[in-house]
Amino acid sequence: MTAKTIAVANQKGGVGKTTTTVNLATALAAVYKKVLVVDFDPQGNASTGLGIPSARRTHGVYELLFDDLSIADVALPTQVPGLHIVPATMDLSGAEIELVSAGEREFRLKTAFRRAANEYDYILIDCPPSLGLLTLNALVAAHSVLVPLQCEFYALEGLSHLSRTIERVRRALNPALRLEGIVLTMYDKRNALSSGVAADVRAHFPGQVYDVMIPRNVRVSEAPSHGKPVMIYDYKCPGAAAYIQLAKEFLAQQQEPPTAHAA
Ligand SMILES: Nc1ncnc2c1ncn2[C@@H]1O[C@H](COP(=O)(O)OP(=O)(O)OP(=O)(O)O)[C@@H](O)[C@H]1O
Ligand SMILES: [Mg+2]
Repeated sequence: MTAKTIAVANQKGGVGKTTTTVNLATALAAVYKKVLVVDFDPQGNASTGLGIPSARRTHGVYELLFDDLSIADVALPTQVPGLHIVPATMDLSGAEIELVSAGEREFRLKTAFRRAANEYDYILIDCPPSLGLLTLNALVAAHSVLVPLQCEFYALEGLSHLSRTIERVRRALNPALRLEGIVLTMYDKRNALSSGVAADVRAHFPGQVYDVMIPRNVRVSEAPSHGKPVMIYDYKCPGAAAYIQLAKEFLAQQQEPPTAHAA
């Protein structure tokens, strides 16, 4: 099966990449999609958020990149049926530096994905907050990029930097890379700046911003410390509802089968 592969990326830290990866993946699995999260951040937040204890993180992304293992060798089941994760291991913190002198250094993840067939409909890669070689590997291996954006003053500035990077990756490394969409996160409707920025982003990227905005919701931020996606931690909270809505919008856009390019 050719899994549609999506890099969840924004070089800015703390904008909701991991939260979006974990909860969109969970919402997709809830409608019987087979989903893999790849925890591509040495911080390991997606692994923690999906309840994978450190003791179980013996093999993961590092081994995928450097030890010729395949997804099936390193993916672990989670508490969510149909959702697996390739965890971040301790070694991953050195990967950014090791990649510099590695052969085919931008293509290691893509090669790993091609090593063996996989069983997934969707692969979501939770990128670290930088535009280094790890993120580059994700952008090369992906069909598309999903950009979580926090509605704050510098949001658009950061977005133009990311757009330039995506354009450069398209030209040099992965011509088929698309923008999957921009999701506005931690939205606070009582805050005028928040709504002003949201309107600006929609004006700059017409048709590319999801209608749903993920509200700032304390239940969303509590869930990871319980090792649970918010849908399982508190199914009825506004954050859970918003991520379910995001999954609906996301799925509605998936009519066209992914190209074989980044298979
Ligand atoms: N909708 C929300 N409401 C409240 N808190 C949120 C929401 N989304 C994310 N957070 C919190 O904001 C913080 C940053 O979110 P998250 O870890 O998803 O961002 P990130 O972009 O992955 O960060 P990093 O760049 O460090 O990887 C976390 O503490 C998270 O729990
Ligand atoms: Mg993160």
